[in-house]
Amino acid sequence: MQAWLCDNPIGIDALRWTELPTPEPGAGQVRIAIHAASLNFPDLLTVQNKYQIKPPLPFVPGSEFSGTVDAVGDGVQHLKVGDRVATIGVAGGFATHARVDAAVVMALPLGFVLDDAAAFAFTYGTSHHALIDRAALRAGETVLVLGAAGGVGSAAVQIAKAAGARVIAAASSDEKCSFCRELGAAVTVNISRDNLRDALKAATDGKGPDVVYDPVGGELAEAAFRSIAWRGRYLVIGFAAGPIPALPWNLPLLKGASVVGVFWGEFVRREPRAFRQAMTELFAWYAQGKVKPAIDSRLPMSALPAAYARMGSRQVRGKLLLVNPG
Ligand SMILES: NC(=O)c1ccc[n+]([C@@H]2O[C@H](COP(=O)([O-])OP(=O)(O)OC[C@H]3O[C@@H](n4cnc5c(N)ncnc54)[C@H](OP(=O)(O)O)[C@@H]3O)[C@@H](O)[C@H]2O)c1
Repeated sequence: MQAWLCDNPIGIDALRWTELPTPEPGAGQVRIAIHAASLNFPDLLTVQNKYQIKPPLPFVPGSEFSGTVDAVGDGVQHLKVGDRVATIGVAGGFATHARVDAAVVMALPLGFVLDDAAAFAFTYGTSHHALIDRAALRAGETVLVLGAAGGVGSAAVQIAKAAGARVIAAASSDEKCSFCRELGAAVTVNISRDNLRDALKAATDGKGPDVVYDPVGGELAEAAFRSIAWRGRYLVIGFAAGPIPALPWNLPLLKGASVVGVFWGEFVRREPRAFRQAMTELFAWYAQGKVKPAIDSRLPMSALPAAYARMGSRQVRGKLLLVNPG
């Protein structure tokens, strides 16, 4: 097999595309012939030693991928050779093959495209948990999605729309804003040009958004919170911009509003039943055409550094795929 190997987590330049022995699955494991892996923001952080979970060295990066089961270890009941599957974890996906615990491998429903499956659970799972579970979003409410053209942001736009909410999408260029309208946003705000607070006032008759979905952090967070509606819910998803914002505590008081933390990986670990229910709903929405990953581009697996560069320079719209030949 071939894989991108990280033996020194000092950044992308230290990764090597190399030949490794193809692993045999042990008890409770399967081997997956990888079709595609998608790039998530944590993949960028992991190879720089900046992510909260640090895989033991050396490791193959790549947290989310799809493919076909090509070998099954002892004791695995729910999977067989030839099954089309997807999985999420911390590592293993930027390769031609991976050995994975069968417990974290999902068999795909009929009609679920393998490309889409490589770019689904992480972003749609996070955004569903955030909007539907943590924020208890109701039809008719207004949602502001920051970083709306990115991976979790684009999923949030589609999920909020599927739940009957009105979406205001914020992104850093006109191209990204027009992409967000294609995804279903009713209103867009180009944060490089428009004043966020004025734009939100105009878009909500001065009331403000009921829910703010924030995977970006940084300097816009306080402005977004100051604009939130009475009884609003501010979803803390991530800090793609870098700085972790601080909030004066009088603001939640004045708005009767909540700051709501979202940690999807921990939700999956602690609440496996709720996670499975959420995925069942998402698979149904996918089958009904209500949600579908927007694929920014498909690059060969060997072109991983170019994919990282595209994400690091904020060019990605939706999800970037690394695809194996065949
Ligand atoms: N809490 C959870 O459970 C959970 C789960 C998954 C992901 N996350 C977090 O969510 C965040 C987004 O992940 P993602 O996979 O959606 O990433 P992504 O596709 O790269 O999207 C991030 C967006 O953030 C904006 N951004 C602003 N400043 C940036 C900067 N300096 N560098 C890069 N992007 C910047 C960009 O939009 P504009 O150019 O339009 O500003 C970009 O589209 C990450 O912090 C990730 O760790 C959290």
